[in-house]
Amino acid sequence: MGNTLFQDRVSILDFFHKHGMLISPEALNMILERSMGQLIPRLISEETSQAGYIDEKNVMKLIRGQSKVERNTYEVQLPDIKVNSSVEDFRQMFVSRYQKLSKIISLSSTMRGSVDIRSAKRSTVEVKVIGMVSSVDTTKNGHKRITIEDMDDQIQAIMMKGRGLENELILQDEVIGVIGSVSRGPGEPVIFPNEIVRPDIPYKLVEETKREPVYVASLSDIHVGSKTFRKDDFRRMVNWIKRSDEEAEHLKYLILSGDVIDGIGVYPGQEEDLELINPLEQYQKLAEYLDEIPNDIQVFVMPGNHDTVRLAEPQPNFSGKIEEIFPENSVMLPNPYSLKLEGKNILLYHGMSLNDMVELVPGANFTSIGKAIEEVLKRRHLAPKYGGKTPLIPSANDYHVIEEVPDIFITGHIHSHYLGNYKGVRYVNSSTWQSQTDYQKMMNFAPNPSILTMFDLHSKSTILKNFEVR
Ligand SMILES: [Fe+2]
Repeated sequence: MGNTLFQDRVSILDFFHKHGMLISPEALNMILERSMGQLIPRLISEETSQAGYIDEKNVMKLIRGQSKVERNTYEVQLPDIKVNSSVEDFRQMFVSRYQKLSKIISLSSTMRGSVDIRSAKRSTVEVKVIGMVSSVDTTKNGHKRITIEDMDDQIQAIMMKGRGLENELILQDEVIGVIGSVSRGPGEPVIFPNEIVRPDIPYKLVEETKREPVYVASLSDIHVGSKTFRKDDFRRMVNWIKRSDEEAEHLKYLILSGDVIDGIGVYPGQEEDLELINPLEQYQKLAEYLDEIPNDIQVFVMPGNHDTVRLAEPQPNFSGKIEEIFPENSVMLPNPYSLKLEGKNILLYHGMSLNDMVELVPGANFTSIGKAIEEVLKRRHLAPKYGGKTPLIPSANDYHVIEEVPDIFITGHIHSHYLGNYKGVRYVNSSTWQSQTDYQKMMNFAPNPSILTMFDLHSKSTILKNFEVR
């Protein structure tokens, strides 16, 4: 490994981007001028990874160190960027998910009197059990068959064809309540469900106060650095905020929910689509716009799959170096995050799992993503099915469980704009600031760009401002 790699700008930038690190243009030039490509992995040390940044000083240090160890033979190795996850880590994540969600389900009045699966198996009356779905299939007679598991046992549930529940959308790995009767034939006991209970959202009454509005504005997927970044629209939006008309005057918070830059190496041949190939310069460009946003507006910045952080979720905050690039009124957040503003709970998620949900939820597609978003809320989990297109880092705490009912739920990633309300929870798939890409053209998807969504935190009202320059 080594010598053939990293001889050009793109592959070096790509390498650091994938490690969640930035490199200054000067440091990059030094490396190229001295043909130091094969030494690049050595620039990743504890110190530089913590800073998230490589500059000329780091390169100089490497050059000096290099002359001392020249006589030693060494092999260049790529540092391990994979996170090693063990079976135990996965088990713990599922346990955490099960515990949090089964608790929410057990608190619903419908599930009062629920028992564990082991006791349910001995019951002769109607039972209520809670379990995680470990398999879903259809029998040859057209009945839906699932297996649910709790901490000690498992049981099959069969939803008979023609009885109404056979079309119920049940996803692998979701946690559900089942109310039904147990049949104990010669084999293992089986439940015939009469009702499936979801953790779901309790109807939320929105308290409206007769106060001046306080707006939180949401935008997503800016993709600065891409040739298709809609800079004229973005400029108009920034100007509108600066001019502070009656609506903008009440804008207090701005949320950028991921993919704030286009990054590099996100897909093959991306450099052809880039106007700025260095992610550092992409962030700097964005910061130039944000510098013009009035200081009393707080800007929250979250990473997405194009940004310079670990791809697998939960995604951490941007490194200190990226934070430094942003103006002082900016706050870095991880993805996902539950943000408290003015006593309201705003759930933020970039939205990678929506790609999976679109495939799983009948009738959902990228233009009417609301259906998929509502199924996420109903399951109180941001990535209900494990192991689709959403890379997750297993941990003892499942951060994707929606523990607290949000007042507002914000996603992005899809590039459509969809505003909805589910049982009193206002939600939006925030608009992008990127024109249709070649990939989207191929997929026959037309984005809905350049719309700012403004939620009033003191009332139910939501305003849309369209900045699209046609
Ligand atoms: Fe994205």
